[in-house]
Formats: sequence, structure tokens, C-alpha cells
Amino acid sequence: MDGTTNTFVLGTGSCLPKRVLTNAELEGMVDTSDEWIATRTGIKTRRISGPGEETSHLAAGAARQALHMAGLTAGDIDIILLGTVSSEMSMPSCACLVQKELGAVNAFAFDLNAACSGFLYALDMADAYLKRDPALKIMVIGAETLSSRVNWQDRDTCVLFGDGAGACLVTGSSNGSGMIASKMFSDGRLFDLLCMDSALGMNPELSNYQNQGSFIRMIGRDVFRYAVRAMVSAVEHVLTQSGLTVDDVTLIIPHQANIRIVKSMIERLNVPAEKIYVNIDKYGNTSAASIPLALDEANREGRLQRGDLLLCCAFGSGFTWGATILRW
Ligand code: UT7
Repeated sequence: MDGTTNTFVLGTGSCLPKRVLTNAELEGMVDTSDEWIATRTGIKTRRISGPGEETSHLAAGAARQALHMAGLTAGDIDIILLGTVSSEMSMPSCACLVQKELGAVNAFAFDLNAACSGFLYALDMADAYLKRDPALKIMVIGAETLSSRVNWQDRDTCVLFGDGAGACLVTGSSNGSGMIASKMFSDGRLFDLLCMDSALGMNPELSNYQNQGSFIRMIGRDVFRYAVRAMVSAVEHVLTQSGLTVDDVTLIIPHQANIRIVKSMIERLNVPAEKIYVNIDKYGNTSAASIPLALDEANREGRLQRGDLLLCCAFGSGFTWGATILRW
């Protein structure tokens, strides 16, 4: 209770497309099996968007739920920060489309690209705004329709990803609750282990850059190794930063990329499995949406009580990674 302003969650929300795509259906699309997908990734189903379920609509749906939980209206939002790599438009930002859909006329809005770490980066940025003005109400969203960005002939990637959105409405708190530690990292040197080209350019002078198509490419085995190491080290960093141990933490929400990554983290951090929230079986890897989706589910399930310590960690293309601790 030192008067420091921390980012405090007023409400959470999520939104998922209706269509469920099962592993059995994927067996008919590429050379794969339910057994391989379930044992190698932990994924059983994922959601796939249809008409009216573009990234901005999912994001707005999640934001509406967060507003409702907070007892506020769209006019109360000062900033919309949206982590995504799969907006339906390159310009304007997806956040501006969300602003329009919500009628958040008093906000300014922009997107942030940190791939699967996008939500945690956006939350970290919200914290900086709130240190400047604790009264702000900031809608932090992670939203993706990666079904529009995978090569549906590539079994290495198409079985992994899903669509969805999650949101948190945050404001400043000075009573000791809220974000008590946060640290983001990136390293562009290995960008091509997990990447996606832009749409083909119109300037032939720039064509020396080898554009391989605007869909996700990944060397999964290498990404896996980096993901485990990076998330464990980010978790250790924020625990040290806040003078806490993993025993003090009530719930850990890691980016949902692979159940085997989660299991490796459990071993390395020496933490009981029950402390780690997992929903990858239902939704697959939803990139920037994965942490806020899980957070909303955990919140609605009553997994978080006032005063509990929540630790979130992410890893994604860039590479980008980070971890955050919030006192609920
Ligand atoms: O969200 C951002 C961060 N992303 C991640 O953290 C993802 C990290 N990576 C992973 O989750 C895993 O590496 C994958 C799930 C992508 C792959 O699992 P893996 O155990 O690393 O498999 P692998 O790439 O080493 O491939 C093993 C075998 C290969 O066959 P051979 O060469 O051993 O004959 C693949 O061709 O599995 C094969 N394989 C498949 N088989 C059936 C790859 N994809 C499939 C598939 N179905 N869908």
C-alpha cells in the first residue's frame, strides 16, 4: 500500500466462433491422426470462424463481456489496445474496427503486433499509460482468426491453431492489488523459425525479398525448445522482481501452444500441475487470444479470489516472450 499505481482488472470477457473443428475432421484433410495431434499437442478441438466472426467481431464480443462484468459502458473506455496478427484488414487497425463496433467514441485505439505474446505486451503497455493517469479505463484485447493464415495443406501447422478473442478492462489501483511485476523480452535473430509473410507487394523493386506466402511457417521442434526455456526464465525473472516464489502464486496461465510445453514448465519450475490453467484441448493455439481467453474462463469458474496471485507467461513469433504477475 505504497501508493504506486498498478494495473487492476475490472472485468474479463471472451468470444469464440461457433464452429468446432475436431481432430477426426482433420484426418480427412491432411495426413494426420487424432492420436498424433492429441498426444503431441494436447489439442482435441479448435474453433474456426465463419461469416460475421472476423477478428474485430470476436474482439468486440470479448470487450462487451468485459464491460458488462465491470458494470461500465463503451463510452467509458479511454484506450483500446489490441494484440493481433490476423486482422481482417491491414489498415485501419483492428482496434479501430472494434472501437466502431462498440461505439467507444471517447477512446483512441491501436493494434500491437507481438504475435502470441501480444496480449501480455498490451497489458504491459496499459500499465505504462496507467502510471501516467490511473483513472484511465483501458480495454486490453487479444484476438485472432489464424484459420485465415494457416496453409490448410501443411499438417505441420494447420492442426495447431484456432480462432478466438479475450479481453480485460483495466484501470489504476493504488491499494496494492493489480500488476505487481511484468517483464517483456524479444529477440529478432531467429525470426524465421516462426513467421508469416505479408500479402504480395506491388513494388517490383522490392521483390528481392523472397515472399513465400502469407501463411504461418514454423520449425516446430526448435520453437518448442526456445518456448520452454524463454517462458521459464521470464517466470523466474518476475518472481525475483517481486520477491515471491512460485509457492506464493495461486494460478499460472501460460500461453496455450502445446501441452508438452506446459508439462516441461511444470517440471522445471517444480510447480503442482493443478496450479497451471490449461484449455488447449478445446481451443488449440489461439496466439494473442490464448491468455485472455483462459483468464476469462478461469475468472468465471471462480478460480481467482481477491488477493490471489496470478502469473501469466507468453511466447511467440519474433521471438517475443514475457511474464506478468497480478494480485487479483
Ligand atoms: O505459439 C507460438 C509458439 N509455438 C509453439 O510453441 C509451438 C512449438 N512446437 C510444437 O508444439 C511442436 O514442435 C509441434 C506440435 C509443432 C510438433 O511436434 P514435435 O513433437 O516437435 O514433432 P516434430 O516436428 O519433431 O515431428 C515429428 C514427426 C515428423 O515425422 P518424421 O520426420 O519423424 O517422420 C513430422 O513430419 O511428426 C510428423 N508430423 C505429423 N504427423 C502427423 C508433423 N506434424 C504432423 C501431423 N500429423 N499433424
